[in-house]
Amino acid sequence: MCGIVGYVGPKQAAPVLLEGLSKLEYRGYDSAGVAVMTDEGIVVKKKKGRLSCLSEMIDGGAAIHGTMGIGHTRWATHGEPSDTNSHPHLSNSGRFAVVHNGIIENYLKLREYLTKKGFEFISETDTEVIAHLFEYYYKGDIIETMIKVLSKVDGSYALGVLCADNPDSFIAVRKESPLIVGLGEGENFIASDIPAILSHTRDVYFLDNNEIVVINKDEVKIYNTDREEITKEAYKVDWDISAAEKGGYEHFMFKEIMEQPRAIADTVSPRIKDGKVVLDDISLTADYIRNINKIYVVACGSAYHVGVVGKYVIEDMVRIPVEVMVASEFRYCNPIADEKTLVVLISQSGETADTIAAMREAKRRGARTFAIVNAVGSCIAREADDVLYTWAGPEIAVATTKAYSTQLTAIYLMSIYFGQELGTLPKEKIAKYIKAIETLPQRIEKLLENKGDIQYIASKYFSAKSVFFIGRTLDYAVALEGSLKLKEISYIHSEAYAAGELKHGTIALMEEGTVVVALCTVKELFDKMLSNIKEVKARGAVVIAIAEEGHKEIEEEADHVIYVPKCDALTMPSEVVVPLQLFSYYVSSLKGLDIDKPRNLAKSVTVE
Ligand code: AGP
Repeated sequence: MCGIVGYVGPKQAAPVLLEGLSKLEYRGYDSAGVAVMTDEGIVVKKKKGRLSCLSEMIDGGAAIHGTMGIGHTRWATHGEPSDTNSHPHLSNSGRFAVVHNGIIENYLKLREYLTKKGFEFISETDTEVIAHLFEYYYKGDIIETMIKVLSKVDGSYALGVLCADNPDSFIAVRKESPLIVGLGEGENFIASDIPAILSHTRDVYFLDNNEIVVINKDEVKIYNTDREEITKEAYKVDWDISAAEKGGYEHFMFKEIMEQPRAIADTVSPRIKDGKVVLDDISLTADYIRNINKIYVVACGSAYHVGVVGKYVIEDMVRIPVEVMVASEFRYCNPIADEKTLVVLISQSGETADTIAAMREAKRRGARTFAIVNAVGSCIAREADDVLYTWAGPEIAVATTKAYSTQLTAIYLMSIYFGQELGTLPKEKIAKYIKAIETLPQRIEKLLENKGDIQYIASKYFSAKSVFFIGRTLDYAVALEGSLKLKEISYIHSEAYAAGELKHGTIALMEEGTVVVALCTVKELFDKMLSNIKEVKARGAVVIAIAEEGHKEIEEEADHVIYVPKCDALTMPSEVVVPLQLFSYYVSSLKGLDIDKPRNLAKSVTVE
């Protein structure tokens, strides 16, 4: 996600901002910029690329004179990485400069409204609407203007705003996207995250949702949206830089597991409007969708596992046959694909060589390509006919978690959208599915609260030599991901197996102490899974079962049971995967391995 830094004090602001932004680089970004209050008004300098490019452009900050400013590192969500789309964004008169982290969900409507009012937009971003809204509502009182702007904006945001009429103070606010206030001696700061200000102060305020802060070099005032002043307890940060970059967690992977509820909410909520799935950025027409007679889902690794879940979901909702293939096979298997074929490509990085090649092979054969990608402006995002972005924010750990989860929600959204367009989904089913994905974040939050139970189970089996993950239909699809997670970060051999297939050979491997994770959440196959648990237990296996709350009878059969909240079958994979992610994380942690950077692996496999 984006990074924000703000400063006001006796020092030249630009170098302080650059230094603070450099401490946020770990979050991933594609452009950077600063806005400084100078004697000539607000000066904005911003540039696509690394922070060093910006620093070079402003001579390490020496080229801009002023002791107050805001800075930003951008992880693109709306609008490709470019100089123009970089933050800060200026209002047309240059009176306001804005930096933003989050997603303005109703930005298209606001952009339309403001354009009709004569405002001129120069970027493709959602953020730019904020700069023009300030201009539109400003009558001299910056706090009143902030409150008015927030009343018009839906979504998640951390905002820093300079106003040329207030050369000694700036204003900021937070809703869902984190923002802290750094309290210095004769100087004060804002930042998206602690590392940005640790070299200046360890005294911070953590802003809560809808808290507005007005900052000058000697004073910090915090207000709610009723303009009532709020007093807060300052917090003394005792983290070191490394811990601070991970939000206080030990590893990026754990931080990203914990970010899943937010990432899913950011991916889903902007696409649900008036009880329907609305995919504004998709050009696929209902006529085209009606013309499709086959869907391929093509990807690699965990993204492929999303495709295996997707097959069940898409076929159930859209009633078009789906074939899932790993990209490295698709590109060479002489696929049957033509203008009636839709090829869905899933990729976190958007730069995976095999998936790029598969996409180009599909296009060569006349198929329509639909990409689900996390990295805005990446190769697959640029070349596919349509792209549905997962707004998971940058994923640093090599082992994917939040990107996988948001890819699943993108499949749900796409399937419901197609079902709406084709009329294959009755209204009540659409409502049911939409409710299921809108409430998914809170069910995952609940699952994450029980992480201690999973840590306990991991402590009993982290020395296992091999672990089997078994399940049926959707559970089997998730078993694939659970097995890969364990392999890639704990180096323990593991296999995911269709539970009904065990008896055709692989059960020969079952012996005393073999660890089996049995996924038993598919209601209509629960009894079959109980039989499979009996089968492996009879050969000495130890069974860790994942079951939906309420199925107590499984405690008779399994050695350990991890319950997941009751939910619609459609979103069950999104719940079941969470304990599997945590299990792998704790096993690897107990083995003392490099969880974020496992041996032999890269975050993006850009070579064949
Ligand atoms: C998953 O934990 C792995 N890091 C890997 O399997 C990954 O999913 C695969 O390489 C695909 O990457 P992509 O999503 O960036 O295309």
